[in-house]
Amino acid sequence: MSEPIRTQVAIVGAGPAGLLLAHLLAGDGVESVVVESRSEEYVAARIRAGILEQSTVDLLRSAGLGERLDREGARHRGIHLQWPEERHHLDFVDLTDRSVWLYGQTEVQRDLVAARTAAGQEVHYEVSDTALHDLETDDPSVTFTSSEGEARRIVADVVVGCDGSFGPSRAAVPSTVQQTWERTYPYSWLGILADVAPSTDDLIYAWHPDGFAMHSMRSETVSRLYLQVPNDTSLDDWPDDRIWQALATRLGHGQDGWELTPGPVTDKSVLPMRSHVSTPMRHGRLFLAGDAAHIVPPTGAKGLNLAVADVGLLAPALVELLRKDDSRLADDYSDTALRRVWRCTHFSWWMTTMLHSTGDPFDEQLQLSQLRWVTSSEAGATGLAENYAGLPIGF
Ligand code: DHB
Repeated sequence: MSEPIRTQVAIVGAGPAGLLLAHLLAGDGVESVVVESRSEEYVAARIRAGILEQSTVDLLRSAGLGERLDREGARHRGIHLQWPEERHHLDFVDLTDRSVWLYGQTEVQRDLVAARTAAGQEVHYEVSDTALHDLETDDPSVTFTSSEGEARRIVADVVVGCDGSFGPSRAAVPSTVQQTWERTYPYSWLGILADVAPSTDDLIYAWHPDGFAMHSMRSETVSRLYLQVPNDTSLDDWPDDRIWQALATRLGHGQDGWELTPGPVTDKSVLPMRSHVSTPMRHGRLFLAGDAAHIVPPTGAKGLNLAVADVGLLAPALVELLRKDDSRLADDYSDTALRRVWRCTHFSWWMTTMLHSTGDPFDEQLQLSQLRWVTSSEAGATGLAENYAGLPIGF
């Protein structure tokens, strides 16, 4: 093995959590090295949700990452919630004085890669055999095989796992201390990207007896739409015509003169729905952030925002630990982060179960009652708005 790489923070995973952490640490004079099992192109091309909460936008701006977001991102005041014959708009700005931005995770990732590349950040892509060692000592390390096939070791003061739910970091927490909570849902999403102008100003979340549908967007010329489908759905069963037909029915084409304009589908995929929380988010000199510690179902677009919130807490905690030898924030990290994790886990579960059809008539009546309440009561609407537009970092 060649000489070990020495750094302060070894970061596993170069998605938004890993690169944002590297960026915030560098801003406070803490150095890091990142390893990633995928290629740079693969990570950059992954299509994920597109909604940024107010606090995510605030953090990206304060970290010098807001320039293109402010130019190309679209601020949205709220969402439409609907069910057959009814469409209601919730205005988050009126309700909570906070709003959301439409700016795809793909774009956030591009901005992070550009910023870290400009700063000379060391990132090793396409590594294999990544393993974490000696996490309960003062000299933890990460070993991996580089893309050239060379065995390498990073020796660091701390290791941060930003490598998602299937990466090695979560698995490195001993089973004697790790607890997990999980919920799987009896449905999935079929998501499409289409080269067509959105048929709506704000996002539409639609309850329908055939199943949930959503109309989102990526730009003035690109739409992103989703359909609830059964868990074992094959894309072969969903030619484009069938998708547009189902979207038109569930989103209420023709209702009060509203029309859904179809267009060429450029991407199609099935997304599983899962809630998962793994605790603690710190073990010894290992810290977990983002999907490595928690997964939410996509309804409400909390995944990326939660990862950013974790990193927004973790970066100052590591700066205090490594520059001032003050471990108070690092010691509190897991408990503090988990308060928000559970809030978002509840909100994502609640939005999901309110909007997805189960085929059970009792569920249906409860869902419709809940939808009527959140669209007609200011208290109900404010609760949804406060969670959707996002609680402040550190909540
Ligand atoms: C998007 C995805 C979501 O899950 C959501 O709640 C809102 C928007 C999106 O991909 O645009």
